[in-house]
Amino acid sequence: MTYSELYTYAKSRLTDYEAMCMMEDIFDLDRVGLAIHGNDIPQNEKSFLTAVEKRVNGIPLQYATGKAYFMGREYFVGEGVLIPRDDTEVAVNECMKCMTGHERVIDLCSGSGIIAVTLAKEFPTAEIYAVELENRAFAYLEKNVKYHGADVKLVHDSIFNEKCVEGEFDVIISNPPYICRNVIPTLQREVQYEPETALDGGKDGLDFYRCIAHKWLKKLKQGGKIILEIGEEQAESVSELLKMQGIIQISVVKDIQNLDRVVFGTMKK
Ligand SMILES: C[S@@+](CC[C@H](N)C(=O)[O-])C[C@H]1O[C@@H](n2cnc3c(N)ncnc32)[C@H](O)[C@@H]1O
Repeated sequence: MTYSELYTYAKSRLTDYEAMCMMEDIFDLDRVGLAIHGNDIPQNEKSFLTAVEKRVNGIPLQYATGKAYFMGREYFVGEGVLIPRDDTEVAVNECMKCMTGHERVIDLCSGSGIIAVTLAKEFPTAEIYAVELENRAFAYLEKNVKYHGADVKLVHDSIFNEKCVEGEFDVIISNPPYICRNVIPTLQREVQYEPETALDGGKDGLDFYRCIAHKWLKKLKQGGKIILEIGEEQAESVSELLKMQGIIQISVVKDIQNLDRVVFGTMKK
């Protein structure tokens, strides 16, 4: 089939938007490219048809194409790694506002690496670490760091082992698993394809925040910053956990939907 025929076929099975995303992600052809090369025959027709079939069967678009986008950069994704969410921009923006470029920063629960890679690319002189436990997610983290030529020190370990990285940090940032365990089965169908290990925050959703508060805040320098992405109902509990470990000037930042999305604070001096 030609590019145009494949596009028409995809549109007959998916939405126009999704069909176009597939053309862009798999053939690197936007609407203009399609107008120019529409009658050509691609080499990788099979990858395209496989991706359409996966999407028709309910697999998230990003897993079907193997690509996702975050703050203007492209990332490899697939089963085993959380699909980047736009919500995470709130945490990254807060982090960038408090950085000058000379900080030692750690991204806990790094997943595909969107946070660590963005910070490393925007602040090439900063020292950035990324910690991820799960094998499949770690493989994507490595691949994305390499793809972007980002200077990120990778740590394949659990954040429950705070000794996996030596020394103190100026900034700790994390988007950890934060969904209450019993809520996971009720989430929409597409989220069910994402790894439970990226979602499951324990019985009350706070296991990882407790770990960060108790184990990692000891490694935050005086005056250092903590930035945590949270679920919309967790601001109070997470703020309380941080306060008990010496964090002051705590603020809660909302996302574009006006929901609490980030808790931000400073380690007392
Ligand atoms: C909510 S996802 C966030 C991924 C990424 N930071 C983002 O914003 O897209 C949480 C990540 O934590 C990882 N994870 C789960 N348990 C972990 C642990 N004990 N130590 C380190 N990472 C863990 C998961 O594999 C997943 O990649």
